[in-house]
Amino acid sequence: MKVVLAGASGLIGSALAGELRTAGHEVLRLVRRAPREPDERGWDPPAGRIDDGALAGAQAVVNLCGAPIAGGRWSHARRQLLVNSRLEPTEVLATAVAEQDIPLLVNASAAGYYGDKGDQVVEETAPRGAGFLADLCRDWEAATQRATDAGVRVVRLRTGHVLARRGGLVGMLKPLFFLALGAKLGNGRQYMPWIHVEDQVAAMRHLIENDTVSGAVNVCSPNPVTNTEFTAAFGRAMHRPAPLFVPAPVIKLGAGDSDGEILYSQRMVPTVLAANGFTHRHPSLDETFASLLT
Ligand SMILES: NC(=O)c1ccc[n+]([C@@H]2O[C@H](COP(=O)([O-])OP(=O)(O)OC[C@H]3O[C@@H](n4cnc5c(N)ncnc54)[C@H](OP(=O)(O)O)[C@@H]3O)[C@@H](O)[C@H]2O)c1
Repeated sequence: MKVVLAGASGLIGSALAGELRTAGHEVLRLVRRAPREPDERGWDPPAGRIDDGALAGAQAVVNLCGAPIAGGRWSHARRQLLVNSRLEPTEVLATAVAEQDIPLLVNASAAGYYGDKGDQVVEETAPRGAGFLADLCRDWEAATQRATDAGVRVVRLRTGHVLARRGGLVGMLKPLFFLALGAKLGNGRQYMPWIHVEDQVAAMRHLIENDTVSGAVNVCSPNPVTNTEFTAAFGRAMHRPAPLFVPAPVIKLGAGDSDGEILYSQRMVPTVLAANGFTHRHPSLDETFASLLT
């Protein structure tokens, strides 16, 4: 199958390209600069432009674009960047797949859709929550509507924290724990959905190849943990106990996150993936950290 990836240079995109190619699929990458490699095609999301023929013959488009959520304080300008860098690419691609009769659009979204759900188990049927991230995810998912209206199979990936050897949350925490500065956040009771990057991209391949699934899909391990459990497991794997905690007001002030959304709780479970026969290779957090941190 020919699959076109947008946001392909990122943590998930680069792993997905490898996963799909290993499985025998052809992968083309959309790049926001001049193409340099034979598998690259140019596009300019703010200008609404995709190179002529870039999507020709594609059976799927996967959109993973977005400036990093944890890439700096959430100033007004940064919030605008987080929104625009997701909505513009999604609108451009949803329009293109609709116009060019491409049968599948797999579009990133996030666990943040659900807002703060406390201890409640969160399946795909749970209602949207409140807050900047929930509103962002609502608009991000709504930006795929043109494709849905045209009869395209649209999969919206509500992803938890993707854990990889380099980058993402592990990349941020590793130096802190190394310096024995690892700490739980706030009271640590908030649930954190997480997934090993190998399961993330295996699940995406499963969703691409299994044409019965559409709509929202929680992409996370079946075992969400609290921040206290997550911090303890990371400390065990790094041989650095983490008895400290960062008080909530310090987090809110430091991140420019006045509502404390970083501390929101999503006890998210992958109900749709399980119902469609996907099995995780890394359901255990201790085993995941052992595989990524050694
Ligand atoms: N990693 C996670 O834990 C996680 C969790 C939930 C949701 N997600 C979402 O899943 C998507 C992929 O995640 P990731 O971890 O792979 O992210 P990432 O490593 O930050 O990569 C995102 C990609 O988006 C593109 N991008 C960056 N800034 C952009 C901008 N201003 N306008 C348009 N495109 C831009 C870049 O690709 P190019 O330079 O190739 O265009 C970048 O490599 C993101 O939308 C992210 O929010 C990730």
